Amino acid sequence: MSEKEGFEALWKKFYQDAWALRHRALQVVLQSPDCDAFMACERLKRFEGYHVIVPVDTPSGAKEFAFRKKLYTEDLAFTQRPFEDVRAYRDGKTSFPNYPRPVDYLLDIIDQHSFDSIVELGGGYAQNLFALHARGGATHAQFFMGEYTESGCQMAQQLAQFAPKMKLKVSRFDHNAPDISWLPKEGKVLCFTAHSIEQVHELSPFFFEKVSQIGSELLVIQFEPFGFQVPLSVAPASQFDPQHKKFFENVHWNLNFYDQLTKAQDRGILQILAIEKNRLPGDESNPTSVAIWKPKR
Ligand SMILES: C[S@@+](CC[C@H](N)C(=O)[O-])C[C@H]1O[C@@H](n2cnc3c(N)ncnc32)[C@H](O)[C@@H]1O
Repeated sequence: MSEKEGFEALWKKFYQDAWALRHRALQVVLQSPDCDAFMACERLKRFEGYHVIVPVDTPSGAKEFAFRKKLYTEDLAFTQRPFEDVRAYRDGKTSFPNYPRPVDYLLDIIDQHSFDSIVELGGGYAQNLFALHARGGATHAQFFMGEYTESGCQMAQQLAQFAPKMKLKVSRFDHNAPDISWLPKEGKVLCFTAHSIEQVHELSPFFFEKVSQIGSELLVIQFEPFGFQVPLSVAPASQFDPQHKKFFENVHWNLNFYDQLTKAQDRGILQILAIEKNRLPGDESNPTSVAIWKPKR
């Protein structure tokens, strides 16, 4: 068989083999409790964010397809995936974010760990938690949402009735006086915030002390707009910094998140694992940065 004929034969049966390969990967994905078809497809797509299908030679000389781990080298998020992919669009090459929203980022993290509990503090009506569960993130876990407003909590409680397979506990919560008595004291916990510390003008040092006591093993990811607070020794200046800072000063939003975070690290309360400045798409007067930390115990 000539090389041309060999490739023709290979590509003719590409989808036959590709679907068979994906079907094998699906068996692993389907093992998570309460998995439905949509969740499984979502988890498979995330798996393919880290793997590529390549033809490999078999001992018999025939070619077959296999998943190979993608070899990323630069601009990696804490998730070990690049923040963006370059695609052709209209008449140019354009960067598309791999993490358009915090939920997309969290799902990659969740797939890499086996968290017993997922906690959002300042969660609105728990829309992030419902999305995490619906897309197959830690479906077995107990979910917790803390929220300042009564209206947000009520809305979350009603929505929970439409997610009967999801274990969700909702409670009022105030970042300014954090009460963690209703949150898990044991187990592996992922706790996150998303644009809710932004509204706390001066975050108290007790916030980090309290939150660091949740669970027996804890990872905290904070998607907050603190980019303008990060010193230039840690991350380069951004064209958005001046208007971002001005907007926050004008509306009395948060000015000390990064300062309190680093002071908590200096006091031996926590260890910062990553600071990703202005890395999720957002409004230009409120771009989203990411701080990832774990307690020092
Ligand atoms: C922009 S919304 C974001 C909601 C949710 N985190 C999300 O990403 O969809 C901000 C939320 O933070 C909450 N919030 C503001 N100040 C808070 C505080 N001191 N303690 C707890 N939640 C607070 C608000 O009530 C609101 O629900």
